Amino acid sequence: MARISIFGMVGLAACSAVLVAGCANGSTDSESAAQSSAASQTATSTAKSTPAPGQLPRITILATGGTIAGKANANSAVGYTAGEATAQDLIDAVPGIDKIAKLDAEQIANIGSQDMNDEVWLTLANRINQIFADDKADGVVVTHGTDTIEETAFFLDHVVASPKPVVLVGSMRPSTALSADGPANLRSAVQVAADADARDRGTMVVLNDTIHGAKDVTKTNTTSVQTFVSPNTGPLGHVDAAAVTFAEPASAHPRLTFPVPGKSPLPQVAIVYSHAGMDATQVNDALGHGAQGIVLAGVGDGNTAKPVVAALSAAAGKGVLVIRSSRVGSGSVVRNAELNDDELGTISALDLNPAKARILTQLLLANGITDKAKVQQDFADC
Ligand code: DGL
Repeated sequence: MARISIFGMVGLAACSAVLVAGCANGSTDSESAAQSSAASQTATSTAKSTPAPGQLPRITILATGGTIAGKANANSAVGYTAGEATAQDLIDAVPGIDKIAKLDAEQIANIGSQDMNDEVWLTLANRINQIFADDKADGVVVTHGTDTIEETAFFLDHVVASPKPVVLVGSMRPSTALSADGPANLRSAVQVAADADARDRGTMVVLNDTIHGAKDVTKTNTTSVQTFVSPNTGPLGHVDAAAVTFAEPASAHPRLTFPVPGKSPLPQVAIVYSHAGMDATQVNDALGHGAQGIVLAGVGDGNTAKPVVAALSAAAGKGVLVIRSSRVGSGSVVRNAELNDDELGTISALDLNPAKARILTQLLLANGITDKAKVQQDFADC
């Protein structure tokens, strides 16, 4: 019988500071690579404890809400409210899940992920690092709404200090829907987190029998169960009732990680959405509200109208981190192509979408990393 300890933790006070595995200063140069290998070595040794022979892997489920915890509204054919079912309800809906892993569950929040925020992020990050530092689990599953799951996954991918697996899972249909996808997705997520080959892969997102890495996964359809794709790299693997299959061995490349920021809110970074007939209003508004960084969701290859280019370059000249990403949805923004980043003082987001480019910029700013060459290198290394 699964050992379940449920305790509600809404607004949990942040736990203690975290070990940094990977590069404390956000780069992979030789010195920090040594730190990184030492740190990751430490993290690996901390994480080395694997289930004793014959013992089930220990998985902690951290619930935050979302449609997976949604319940239909009685008076509507399509209406529902996210974040109503508890972690216990989700586990109870998956017969046999206790044959896959020994489960613990904690309620971190119960919100629609459109309301996900820095405070919940910091609570999640500190709780996951504490669970792994105390060797309380072999993996963690986070249940989450799908609207911002890719953002939370990317954030955790860069602040979790352990090589143990963290798997985010959601659903496109509420728990009370016909053919609800949540129970099968939760089972898959626990299977992946419990799999011996899931270590050293960073944070993952599992839905619809597919395993995605945090860096590339993105939501591409408003309602379809097959909404998540990894447009640049393809998925990491697949999972079904019989097996977890990863396409490639885990990478030995030290992950770019940072200490969990000590306080929320994280540094203010705005996203400016480019469109035809655009002027510099969005840029000026962002600066007027104190943005320390601006991410351009550019047209095409990170492009935008001339008045916007001028305003962004002027902001970069005043020390604002300006990152060129693209609204297109796949591909990499080429540095110094149609727009010359060297001359403009801007950074290319390379293959990070605007939402993830914003998060990396926040982490860099939170760690005092503003040197443009360093920032560009960290975008290349992430
Ligand atoms: N309220 C949205 C969210 O929590 C629903 C989307 C979902 O979870 O599938 O992200």
